[in-house]
Amino acid sequence: MPEKDDVTAVMEKAHQYGQGHVFKYWDELNDSEKQQLLNQIKAVDFELLRRLADEHILEPAEQSVAGVLEPAEIIPIPDSDELLQKADSAGKTGEKLLRDGKVAALLVSGGQGTRLGFDGPKGKFPAGPLSNKTLFQLHAEKIIAMQRRYKTTIPWYIMTSETNDAETREFFEENKYFGLNKKDVIFFTQRMIPAMDENGKFILDSKHHIFTNPNGHGGTLFSLYDSGSLADMKKRGVEEIFYFQVDNVLLRMCDPVFLGYHVQDNAEMSSKVVPKKHPMEKVGVLGIMDGRLSVVEYSDLSEAEMKATNPDGSLKYDGGNIAIHILNLKFVEELVTGKLRLPYHVAHKKIPYLDEAGQLVEPKKPNGYKFEMFIFDALPFTNDSVVMEVVRDDEFSPIKNATGDDSPATAKQDLMNHHARMLTKAGVQVPFDSEGNVKGSVEISSLFALDERDLKEKIDKTFVFRDNLFLE
Ligand code: UD1
Repeated sequence: MPEKDDVTAVMEKAHQYGQGHVFKYWDELNDSEKQQLLNQIKAVDFELLRRLADEHILEPAEQSVAGVLEPAEIIPIPDSDELLQKADSAGKTGEKLLRDGKVAALLVSGGQGTRLGFDGPKGKFPAGPLSNKTLFQLHAEKIIAMQRRYKTTIPWYIMTSETNDAETREFFEENKYFGLNKKDVIFFTQRMIPAMDENGKFILDSKHHIFTNPNGHGGTLFSLYDSGSLADMKKRGVEEIFYFQVDNVLLRMCDPVFLGYHVQDNAEMSSKVVPKKHPMEKVGVLGIMDGRLSVVEYSDLSEAEMKATNPDGSLKYDGGNIAIHILNLKFVEELVTGKLRLPYHVAHKKIPYLDEAGQLVEPKKPNGYKFEMFIFDALPFTNDSVVMEVVRDDEFSPIKNATGDDSPATAKQDLMNHHARMLTKAGVQVPFDSEGNVKGSVEISSLFALDERDLKEKIDKTFVFRDNLFLE
């Protein structure tokens, strides 16, 4: 039975902020349901929610006038001896950082995977083209391979959300952490934030629960701090945090060259980009907005800006954001303990709710607003930042949709093509069709070879590729 004083205080606060309706069914609830609702409401930041309701729902400001956009400076893919030398030197700096144990990996995996239609944490999705290994396992094996190569430990911090935390932890437990040391895999949970209806009211989705959603990957920074994970990193001597999303099968884990450029420049937060597939591709681009480095969402770019070209015909805004960053630990600490406020982005969505009769309704059209913070909104707070272009075919193929672009089918094909090109570089003849797809199937475990460097050492030069190869 919840404490009476506690109940009164929480109810009063909710009423004071115009959210008293969340207790509509209070008298029908049993003790444990009462406690659940109470805990949920206690955790709400009412001031923040009131501000969000005012600014985005009740009195939305006119669309702010778009600022002045200029291209960002981008380190290109090396195509000259000079650039190759620079990349080589950066690589050496990054390798030293890894050897010295100063790098942590940070995976954000709190999203709901709605577009993919997969039930469960997205990391459990089977993505290995021949092995059917899950996304979590593919990432884990890359970390193991990097640890072996640099004789180091790369602690892996995984951000889950309330909706998938228990299932994610269980999955790692069942799979014995995929061979990683359990003490070096650290889970933490991101905060949830209530959604609101067209009148700025919280939405009950059961009699003892309001609808909440994870507060966006921008919430990572704050949850890292709250959960004690940032302190844990410091204790371990970590200085740089390699940030990545769960859905990219081609991720180059803790890339030493990227790390090297980042620290050589004393950068606070750095980003990898790929050239856009075509001018209208729906990706955010890195650009200088009103003098500060930012990711500009495609929805905020005019058609003219999307299609703008340089004198040589190349696209002016071509640095597509692939959501791979390095964050300096001190920078994160200053951000979250200082006065920083990352902006909230609002989305009009379909949110299940209880009707007058207390029955759950799944609406057919958007009926409420969800709020999220984005990690890249920390970029404008940096003084130094590196933006590095990489080859899309080798580093970026996410699983986002059930079919079509960025789907399991494209990701598996891209991974096979990448592995086939590794074989070619290691001296094995592999046939490709006119579209660049390998003729046949191939998968190489990161535990066998992380890249062509490993492969060259391991593969028998006389090996002949027929049509199916799985190297474990
Ligand atoms: C994101 C980027 C986009 C980029 C693309 C590259 C945004 C707004 N856009 O798009 O610029 O081109 O990735 O793949 O981010 N997540 C959480 N908690 C949350 C929300 C998301 O952990 O509250 C995690 C997800 O688990 C996932 C990642 O963040 O790993 C990305 O989320 P997602 O919604 O898939 O971003 P995209 O819209 O695909």
